[in-house]
Amino acid sequence: MRIFFTGGSGKAGRHVAPYLAEQGHQVTNADLVPLNHPAVADLRVDLTDTGETYSALSGLARMGELELARKPAYDAVVHFAAVPAILIASDARTYANNVLSTYNVLEAATRLGVRKIVFASSETTYRICFAQGERRPQYVPVDEDHPTVPEDSYAMSKVANEVTARSFQARNGGDVYGLRINNVIEPDEYAEMFPDFLADPSLRRRNIFAYIDTRDLSQMVQRCLEVDGLGYEVFNVANADMSVALTTQEVRDRFYDGVTLSRQMGRDETFYSIDKARELLGYAPQHSWRDVVPAPQPGV
Ligand SMILES: NC(=O)c1ccc[n+]([C@@H]2O[C@H](COP(=O)([O-])OP(=O)(O)OC[C@H]3O[C@@H](n4cnc5c(N)ncnc54)[C@H](O)[C@@H]3O)[C@@H](O)[C@H]2O)c1
Repeated sequence: MRIFFTGGSGKAGRHVAPYLAEQGHQVTNADLVPLNHPAVADLRVDLTDTGETYSALSGLARMGELELARKPAYDAVVHFAAVPAILIASDARTYANNVLSTYNVLEAATRLGVRKIVFASSETTYRICFAQGERRPQYVPVDEDHPTVPEDSYAMSKVANEVTARSFQARNGGDVYGLRINNVIEPDEYAEMFPDFLADPSLRRRNIFAYIDTRDLSQMVQRCLEVDGLGYEVFNVANADMSVALTTQEVRDRFYDGVTLSRQMGRDETFYSIDKARELLGYAPQHSWRDVVPAPQPGV
């Protein structure tokens, strides 16, 4: 596929965009700053600018395309560009950047006839991550039916983007899949960050004790590109286990007292349900912090 990938220079995109290129896709990275990866074409684009967005999405990506008899079109858009949290820019700038850029990308892609759009939403839509004080899930494991009424500007922008995406999909069909991505972890961050998480599991409360390895996120995006015909859907994206060494029962006792358990859970299973992605997309995460950081033995 010829893929217009936004935000490919960022923490997640710099893993996912090259992975898609390795799978044989032609990937164009539309970002404010270049990725400078040999397998990915860079285009500097401010996606809050409607004209720039249309121009980039309807134009050439690399010199070699000049040799083609006709200008090629994009088969898919993967939209990751965003201000990815609160406290990076002002709340108002965060909201404006994320909502306007997403509107522009979705409008241009839809009008230009792109039939497959995958966009980054966030775990923060479930309210817990950036809430003032402690908010607990209404039930666990948290699945895609859990209410999304967040209080912060970043998560509000992601909820607004999901509404926008749903409406563009309704306008002319095709597939528009939103990824409610959990906390993104690069492989070299395990050794650096996880010993602290194991020592103090409360550090992971705001992430519903979950995480997503960039390699499994890459697999998830590839599965979204491969599975057609679902229309508009949102998917939680996380690894299969928790980011702490406690059992699910221990986490419930310490952090989720009184929170409804909607089904039985495995010993280390994530509280951020990935059942839907497994069932509809065949997503099967392969990685775990346990491959890198030894889990403490019980009683030690
Ligand atoms: N990092 C996480 O833990 C996490 C968790 C959940 C969801 N997400 C979402 O995943 C996506 C990727 O996150 P990330 O951690 O890689 O973020 P990042 O900040 O590292 O990368 C985002 C990229 O988007 C680009 N960008 C931002 N605004 C732009 C604009 N107007 N025009 C063009 N490019 C623009 C930035 O230059 C940057 O390279 C984001 O949509 C984020 O909200 C991230």
